[in-house]
Amino acid sequence: MILGIETSCDDTCAALVTASGEIRSNVISSQGIHDRYGGVVPEVAARRHLELVNVVVDDALRQAGATLDDVGRIAVTQGPGLVGALLIGIATAKGLAAVRDLPLCAVDHLQGHVSANFLEPAPFQPPFLCLIASGGHTFLARVEDHVSFEVLGATLDDAAGEAFDKGARMLGLPFPGGPAIQRLAAGGDPRAFDFPLAAGVPGLDFSFAGLKTSLLYRIRDLGEDETTARRADLAASYQRAIVEALAVRVERALTGTGLRRLAIGGGVAANAALRERLGTLGVELAVPPIDLCTDNAAMIAGAARFVEPLARSAALALDAYATGQRGL
Ligand code: KG4
Ligand code: ZN
Repeated sequence: MILGIETSCDDTCAALVTASGEIRSNVISSQGIHDRYGGVVPEVAARRHLELVNVVVDDALRQAGATLDDVGRIAVTQGPGLVGALLIGIATAKGLAAVRDLPLCAVDHLQGHVSANFLEPAPFQPPFLCLIASGGHTFLARVEDHVSFEVLGATLDDAAGEAFDKGARMLGLPFPGGPAIQRLAAGGDPRAFDFPLAAGVPGLDFSFAGLKTSLLYRIRDLGEDETTARRADLAASYQRAIVEALAVRVERALTGTGLRRLAIGGGVAANAALRERLGTLGVELAVPPIDLCTDNAAMIAGAARFVEPLARSAALALDAYATGQRGL
């Protein structure tokens, strides 16, 4: 089995996955200490990973009914992400690999999100178009094989999840904002307010900064009482704008590439309105279960099935990176 470790942001994750891509355990410990700050505090996240990582690895082994003797390979997220947070996972993985004399694989976090689609019980085979939308990243990729992807478009400013989080904050909702906006939006009219869809951004790139500013102005113009009275309408309209901005570019990419198969991932892929909207595109749609869309280590262990392990000296020298390909 492959033991995966993922600590790129604020979830401390470990998982065991078999060589055929079957998930034996997938432990995610959400730190739950960042909501009071309205966002993830890197130093706090790193310190918490340090407290949690060994416990989470133990839990993953126990839930899989396994011990380290059953592990044939260690996989760890190398980047992109918060460097201090990543280094906790990397140090843990290096230590285990060195002590147990196990091969170590470095996995790119975004390749991990794409690779969540290759896991059992319903592996989705390339080629396909993949939309990854999370709190840190938003991009469209053409996936032709199990080891790489070609970025077709990416956000020029905020990620879609960040737009949800910042919008939620303006509406007085808790962090993370996506689920909170989704809940509030259920009782609102998505056409009550017109928000910009970044129609001026050509091609397959995304932009959410204008939308965020537009919500800010709208709240200011409405005033406190009216904003409170119309919070559900604001949430529903704001959510619709994010969903439409994503869907329009997905549609463009499907037309441009001729691909008729679509996979989605990242925390925003949990959004019900997005899932419903993408379901209307008339293409084959793969939606991994929610705990494989948000950050998890099963996707990292799964991706490592297709990655060459590092030579021992390279494994010990492994370092984290904050930014990956095309500045993502
Ligand atoms: O992939 P993820 O767990 O972590 C990152 O790598 O960022 O994504 C977290 C993001 C947050 O911005 C959160 O607000 C958003 O995903 N999110 C959602 C939903 N659930 C989580 N956004 C919209 N609707 C949801 N149901
Ligand atoms: Zn992620």
